[in-house]
Amino acid sequence: MPASQPPEPTTARTHTLRVDGLGVTVGQQRRAAVHGVTFEIARGESVGLVGESGSGKTLTCRSVLGLLPAGCNVAAGSIVLGAGDSEVELTTVRRRGWDRIRGLRLAAVFQDPASYLNPSLTVGHQLAEQLRVKRDLSRREAHARSVELFVEVGLHRPEQVFHQYPHELSGGMLQRVLIAIAVALEPELLIADEATTALDVVIQAEILQLLSRLRRDHHLSLLLVTHDLAVVAETCDRILVMYGGEIVESGPTGEVLTDPKHPYTRALLSVASIGDWTRRTLDVIPGSPPEAGEQMSGCRFAPRCSAAREQCTAGPVDLTPLDAARSARCVRVDELALTSVGGVA
Ligand SMILES: Nc1ncnc2c1ncn2[C@@H]1O[C@H](COP(=O)(O)OP(=O)(O)OP(=O)(O)O)[C@@H](O)[C@H]1O
Ligand code: SF4
Ligand SMILES: [Mg+2]
Repeated sequence: MPASQPPEPTTARTHTLRVDGLGVTVGQQRRAAVHGVTFEIARGESVGLVGESGSGKTLTCRSVLGLLPAGCNVAAGSIVLGAGDSEVELTTVRRRGWDRIRGLRLAAVFQDPASYLNPSLTVGHQLAEQLRVKRDLSRREAHARSVELFVEVGLHRPEQVFHQYPHELSGGMLQRVLIAIAVALEPELLIADEATTALDVVIQAEILQLLSRLRRDHHLSLLLVTHDLAVVAETCDRILVMYGGEIVESGPTGEVLTDPKHPYTRALLSVASIGDWTRRTLDVIPGSPPEAGEQMSGCRFAPRCSAAREQCTAGPVDLTPLDAARSARCVRVDELALTSVGGVA
């Protein structure tokens, strides 16, 4: 941009997603499973969402997608997709409104690609049909674009794959098909929830490289859910660490992984040493996380935190900015900054 032009306002323009105070309840008793989750994803940014099983990662993603399971509800907060004229508050979108958002502006890939494809239709038909209906392409154009997309996601012999049924393809190929379907309509945000977890290490690495390349080429924002810190280290600009339905730490991936501020993140990193992240999962800290609906006073990590003191359970603990890029939810964060990582876990 020429120096004489004023900088564009950065407020809404740069954001693809803004989640503010999201609360999700589950079951008939409306047990709180996600509490006050707040984060943003900038245009073209990749954000990793990590946390133990049951920490609320999938409920957070599904809230954004408007795909919460039956019995689960958004109980609080706001989820804004896009910026400026294209801004839309997703918590107010109802049934038909999602037709103009899902696939077109938001897309997702999950752990089990086969369950998201129709077993009785060829994978090519499923992709081409989406292009025909949502992009108004002719049959011939949709076929040609589908084959191009299959090439782009690294499927060999794309013409042959086009005519195959889901059961004829391997897990890695199915995930590539699903990714092709997800990016076909050029969405702003792609959510990948454990999309590579079921794949072997080599295919997992290839799929992650593919997601990174597509993000670059299509200016996609990416929300990547994983248990694997190595995956985040390789793929994500920023990391959000979830615990017990809350975000407990956020910041640039490199900074958080080399200099974690929250005792939970520190404990994770002390048990999964830096040289040994590959294939490590987060389910390694003694004790178990709180259940959905469990009432707790103060810090939800306190029962498992060796740095816990009386002040930690005296009242609500907020996610507090540490600097322009980082935040942590811990009342002792300043004191603990002086201790070594191993001294906390
Ligand atoms: N359909 C549901 N009905 C009732 N409770 C649910 C439902 N889905 C999730 N929960 C509860 O909400 C909490 C958060 O679940 P969520 O699936 O978001 O966790 P997660 O972080 O994605 O875990 P994982 O790493 O195992 O995928 C858990 O306590 C879970 O038991
Ligand atoms: S607030 Fe207290 S219990 Fe919670 S993480 Fe910080 S030191 Fe541990
Ligand atoms: Mg999950």
